[in-house]
Amino acid sequence: MARASAELLSVADEVGGLAYPCDLSDLAGLAALVERVEADGPVDVLINNAGVSHVGWFLDRTPAEIDQVLTVNLLAPVHLCRLLLPRMLERGRGHVVNISSMAGVIAPPGLAAYSASKAGLSHFTAGLRADLRDTPLRFTTVHLGSVSTEMDEEARSYGPMRELAAKSGGRDITPMPVFVAAVLDAVEKDRVQVRVPAVMAPLAMAAELPRKVGRLVFKRASAMELRRD
Ligand SMILES: NC(=O)c1ccc[n+]([C@@H]2O[C@H](COP(=O)([O-])OP(=O)(O)OC[C@H]3O[C@@H](n4cnc5c(N)ncnc54)[C@H](OP(=O)(O)O)[C@@H]3O)[C@@H](O)[C@H]2O)c1
Repeated sequence: MARASAELLSVADEVGGLAYPCDLSDLAGLAALVERVEADGPVDVLINNAGVSHVGWFLDRTPAEIDQVLTVNLLAPVHLCRLLLPRMLERGRGHVVNISSMAGVIAPPGLAAYSASKAGLSHFTAGLRADLRDTPLRFTTVHLGSVSTEMDEEARSYGPMRELAAKSGGRDITPMPVFVAAVLDAVEKDRVQVRVPAVMAPLAMAAELPRKVGRLVFKRASAMELRRD
């Protein structure tokens, strides 16, 4: 998803698809967006990929920047799920892929609100999996280190991140085709987690551990109990 631009329309044209421009920071517009898209066909796969980082020292961030980060990265995916999951359940199929970040695991400097939004997104996905575990719906969390995009360039231009990037010698960067292939593979094979690059995967696995324990603790709760008030 993206806001209206000539670039978005030309990408849609290139791949023979349709674009539905929208501003995800306008949560009140999401219901209309879902109606608009579903009028053309069911959403079987929702990939929450849009994101904003506003990298820099937290105390320099404006209230508008902080709200935008938390809204686009966390609240919009939560509300898109709220709007689409009932439809997916009714159809008996659906897959949600939430693009999270290693920043949500390690909380690097300059990305406090961003890291919080991504940690929240990873946790939200785990919670959905727990609530909907006895349904045909599938959920994938993608923990991404770094791919070369505008956002990544912005992050790497920030002092402490620049130093870390120089030290890592590029080992944290995943080529875009590898990242895209990993997401497609997760949808095709119902993978619960995607962690790229492999060198950072153990960190995301460690963060997943308490969620795994939570799943085991509540394993015996019946579907009826899960839905009870
Ligand atoms: N690049 C990395 O190294 C990296 C690392 C970890 C995680 N990620 C995650 O990967 C995802 C993609 O990031 P990216 O690197 O491709 O960033 P990007 O180059 O900055 O692109 C961000 C995308 O989000 C869209 N977007 C931003 N604000 C929006 C809004 N209010 N409404 C609708 N769309 C909006 C942008 O479209 P418009 O601006 O045209 O609206 C653009 O398509 C994000 O969730 C990001 O957090 C990226």
